[in-house]
Amino acid sequence: MGPLTIGKHTVPHPLIQGGMGVRISGGNLAGHVARCGGVGLIATAGLGLDVPEFDGRNLYDADQEGLREELRKAYAIAPNGVIGVNAMVAVSDYDQQVRTACEAGAKLIVSGAGLPLSLPGLTAEFPDVALVPIVSSVKAAELIARKWHKRYQRLPDAVVVEDPDTAGGHLGDKLENIGIGEYDQYATVRGVKAYFRDEWNLDIPVVAAGGVWDRRDVEYALAQGADGVQMASRFVCTEECDADPAFKQAYLECREEDIGLLMSPAGLPGRAILPNTPMIRQRDLEVDQKCGLACLKKCTYRADNERFCVVRALNRAQRGDVQTGLVFCGTNAWKADRITTVQAIFEELFAPAAREVPAASRPTARRDEPASCAAPA
Ligand SMILES: Cc1cc2nc3c(=O)[nH]c(=O)nc-3n(C[C@H](O)[C@H](O)[C@H](O)COP(=O)(O)O)c2cc1C
Repeated sequence: MGPLTIGKHTVPHPLIQGGMGVRISGGNLAGHVARCGGVGLIATAGLGLDVPEFDGRNLYDADQEGLREELRKAYAIAPNGVIGVNAMVAVSDYDQQVRTACEAGAKLIVSGAGLPLSLPGLTAEFPDVALVPIVSSVKAAELIARKWHKRYQRLPDAVVVEDPDTAGGHLGDKLENIGIGEYDQYATVRGVKAYFRDEWNLDIPVVAAGGVWDRRDVEYALAQGADGVQMASRFVCTEECDADPAFKQAYLECREEDIGLLMSPAGLPGRAILPNTPMIRQRDLEVDQKCGLACLKKCTYRADNERFCVVRALNRAQRGDVQTGLVFCGTNAWKADRITTVQAIFEELFAPAAREVPAASRPTARRDEPASCAAPA
């Protein structure tokens, strides 16, 4: 399990901590993951809602302020770490968020929830910022590569392949196609890898996201052709995760059968802890009748008062109101059985395992050293 290099940035462990909005992966979680030798990602979605200057109307300005603040926090924890942002194409102030992220020192932009076709244009003045699209099909990766190359003479520095059958949050496939056993995560990983090799003579990292929980899963992903993994749900039940303890408790209490799919007003399916969701719409009907935020480019709640206000629902959950909030999670969330630390997860995933080395071939002086969480040089 070697290092992972994305563009100009290298981390000792082949792990990206997946972006989790709203404020589930803020500066604290991302900073600690980076400090432990992974890539830490701050999710940009809805950051403005928690900014003191936010007065209910100026969400886009507040989003930029919130993003600068989270990046500052993360770099205070891991000054030399590889810290980036997760920016969703579907949000209205996507362009501003990407620019703010670059200006405030993000080392990579990981971007999905739509095709990030304009990303190289938005980051043109920051050539060292690595660009990483999230896709769920080889076709989407091909489209992005062709458009980027034609318009900007640029190609992705890595690609995240997200499995709609297991990942948390908004998903990149139609509701009716999810969970029917037709999606092959690692065939897609290998397909994307082969496409860049054969078409562009390029060996870029392809990172598997969705359903990776423990060391065995990481080893499996790498054996199946991935260069790294993106893990999100696993990091929720850590002391460092930016969510309220009640959000983490919802993970600890949920059962496998509680996790399912719903349609988001963004027009995308999402995976969440379903027994928490019936009150969301009720709450919006009572309180937030009109959308004053316009956080999404396309939103059925804003257009037709259909479904619910997703950014407020995620925000409520992050603050601990899991009764009327939306608790996004991957299919593995039920496996969380305690609050742990980022460092403990890195040790479990990456520390050398003595039991796997036959005693006879082990050097006599060897100790099992835990993965170091000192800030990487
Ligand atoms: C609570 C939560 C919030 C998420 N929010 C986002 C987001 O804002 N943007 C995004 O691209 N992906 C989001 N995701 C998806 C993750 O980044 C990740 O790719 C996926 O959950 C990986 O699967 P895993 O949770 O099984 O590890 C979210 C996932 C969770 C669990």
